[in-house]
Amino acid sequence: MILLGIETSCDETSAAVVADGRRVLSSVVASQIAIHHPFGGVVPELASRKHLESIAWVTSEAIRQSGISENELDAVAATQGPGLVGALLVGFSFAKACAYGWDIPCIGVDHLEGHIHSLFLEEDVPDFPFVALLVSGGHTGIYDVVSHTSCELMGQTRDDAVGEAFDKVAKMLGLGYPGGVVIERMASEGHPERIHFPRPCLDTMDFDFSFSGLKSAVRRYIELHATAAVIPDITAGFQEAATDVLTVKLIQAALSRNRQRVAVVGGVAANANLRQKITAAAVEKGVQVYLPSVKYCGDNAAMIAASGFHHYPEDWNKIVSLSQDVYSKGCRWQAGHS
Ligand code: KG4
Ligand code: ZN
Repeated sequence: MILLGIETSCDETSAAVVADGRRVLSSVVASQIAIHHPFGGVVPELASRKHLESIAWVTSEAIRQSGISENELDAVAATQGPGLVGALLVGFSFAKACAYGWDIPCIGVDHLEGHIHSLFLEEDVPDFPFVALLVSGGHTGIYDVVSHTSCELMGQTRDDAVGEAFDKVAKMLGLGYPGGVVIERMASEGHPERIHFPRPCLDTMDFDFSFSGLKSAVRRYIELHATAAVIPDITAGFQEAATDVLTVKLIQAALSRNRQRVAVVGGVAANANLRQKITAAAVEKGVQVYLPSVKYCGDNAAMIAASGFHHYPEDWNKIVSLSQDVYSKGCRWQAGHS
């Protein structure tokens, strides 16, 4: 079964063609970084307008690169939520129009479930159940994943998402947007232990996170001590604190459920320090680690098509399929939902 995937939940316009939820025939991602960079963050209205400009050529290009023709597509899967509503509406409405025109189902995909499915684009895929850490600009949570369509939320951030913390620290230091990549680069020139920042929630018995205290500690440090010379150490110290907490909580969560497999997905999963730390901690406990390749960590439509494959409707009702709405918050994909 061949699906066209469409993703426009935030600041990437992406389309991909994926066979059987596993085999990527094409993946096109048009980034809007240059547009949002001067503002130090995503400007929702600019994001929607840029999606509107890009969606048609990005989709045509994905179909062209896949080498298949439109009439070989079995369904269109598009991100339905959570995300920026205006941005979601562009991709989801476009997906509906394609599905209408080609007379195939339009499948609404949960963005978080999509990130988990980035794991299934790799050669070596995890068996169920496994415990996944989802770390992005909008979400930070630990999930016990029991099937392609069901999971249980074990813990999540009480305030900022960890990607948001990376972005805000980068902004405080005047390093630009998006913060994750630039913090990681700058941190490689600093020493992770020279400045010790707090590890919030490390000693709590649950799997929740909090990153606002860490962010405030970095802000206070910058106010008191910042000079260009210490910026690498600040970024290294911040990254070390954030990745320590994520690693400890993920391994504790897996052990608490006796799970033999862990995974890390989402934009922050591209961070090499986090990947190495989690791999080392898992190996020490005899747990297997699954990581998507870096190109599938950030938002992309291949993961959306992979997830949509598992929601292909058995009895497709065209009007019902074309009457779905988008949602800005929450996660449709949790225990009991399918
Ligand atoms: O999954 P994603 O592309 O979009 C959302 O669903 O939010 O994640 C974007 C987030 C941003 O906060 C970005 O700064 C962060 O992922 N990020 C990173 C790295 N690359 C992207 N954070 C840390 N290290 C990185 N290498
Ligand atoms: Zn995302």
